[in-house]
Amino acid sequence: MTTGTQGMIGALCRAGFESECGQELVAVAAQQGLFGYFQARKGSGWVLLMLPDPAQAETLMSRCNWQQLVFAREWLLGLAQVPLPERDRVSAVLEALTAEGYTGPYSRLEVQVPDSDLVSSDVQQFARKWTAPLSRALREEGWLSADATAPRLDLVLADFDQVFIGLSFPGNRAPFLGGIPRLRMPAAAPSRSTLKLEEAWKLFIPTEQWYETLGGGVQAVDLGAAPGGWTWQLVKQGMQVHAVDNGPMDQALMDSGQVTHVQEDAFSWRPKRRVSWLVCDIADKPGRVTTLMGDWLTQRQCRHCVFNLKLPMKQRWDTWQDCRDQLEGRLQQAGLKYRLQARHLYHDREEITCYVQLLD
Ligand SMILES: C[S@@+](CC[C@H](N)C(=O)[O-])C[C@H]1O[C@@H](n2cnc3c(N)ncnc32)[C@H](O)[C@@H]1O
Repeated sequence: MTTGTQGMIGALCRAGFESECGQELVAVAAQQGLFGYFQARKGSGWVLLMLPDPAQAETLMSRCNWQQLVFAREWLLGLAQVPLPERDRVSAVLEALTAEGYTGPYSRLEVQVPDSDLVSSDVQQFARKWTAPLSRALREEGWLSADATAPRLDLVLADFDQVFIGLSFPGNRAPFLGGIPRLRMPAAAPSRSTLKLEEAWKLFIPTEQWYETLGGGVQAVDLGAAPGGWTWQLVKQGMQVHAVDNGPMDQALMDSGQVTHVQEDAFSWRPKRRVSWLVCDIADKPGRVTTLMGDWLTQRQCRHCVFNLKLPMKQRWDTWQDCRDQLEGRLQQAGLKYRLQARHLYHDREEITCYVQLLD
């Protein structure tokens, strides 16, 4: 069993983004004066941050929140990595937990596999079936509790060789298991992109604030709107939308009477009055989009803003850092109070999605 002397945090991410996720974890740790390194196999969707001792991993997770991470879909405090025998794998996990004194209580057990083609279908099937007997064994030991505030025991299985045993904590983990929301594609929405905005809202806006934040009747602008997947979400919330794009908008959406199609350049067009919501899904240079968003925000032309940044393959982490620094620098210079969050959404591919709310 690998445990003990080193601290470990496991993170799930989109396959192919292990390096960005690892860089992020190392950077977040360094901000807390904790120095580690990451291990990841390319394409695995799984990253381990290694720290000098377990107490440092705990410190990091107690000081930082999952919400501030962009590339990590989920993060877990590592307890152990346990080699798996061919038979009686349940006992192997129980023995490892007993040996380390990790006997709960846990609110529940989840067995996850990384979201990667490198995970065989046998492993995926085994992981699905393993939850029930493992939960039963934990319950028999008296390690599971009805207390929802207790940590959750999270097992991550990438292959049959070993299992990562970790903990996740209420209020400091993804709201969807593994950071993967199960959203249904609305039949009437004109493009699959619609799911990005839906996921962004679910992540960035607490449920209890949906009504006042997204409530009907307010004005919105959608830059790069065609064919209208994001506009469809704005319309569904009852908003009046200026959809800016030279491309054609979905006819049923136009028939709603809530959409004005503006066939102009999104980088120069401005509304006559300020609006509540600005969304922007233009695949342009990330620095250019960030500047545009900064212009709208510092001129207080919108209150809430969701936008995508398409990141270049080789410098995704650095590009995101530059864009964030540029935007925050401008917002601070303008004396604005704001909330900024960004995330590599499950429905994002080569881009990340950012949210800015002006607070005064
Ligand atoms: C990824 S698509 C947007 C998809 C849309 N969010 C949806 O959900 O259906 C990007 C759009 O940006 C538009 N676009 C690119 N540059 C633009 C510009 N300078 N001004 C206006 N629209 C632009 C393109 O015409 C394209 O329709």
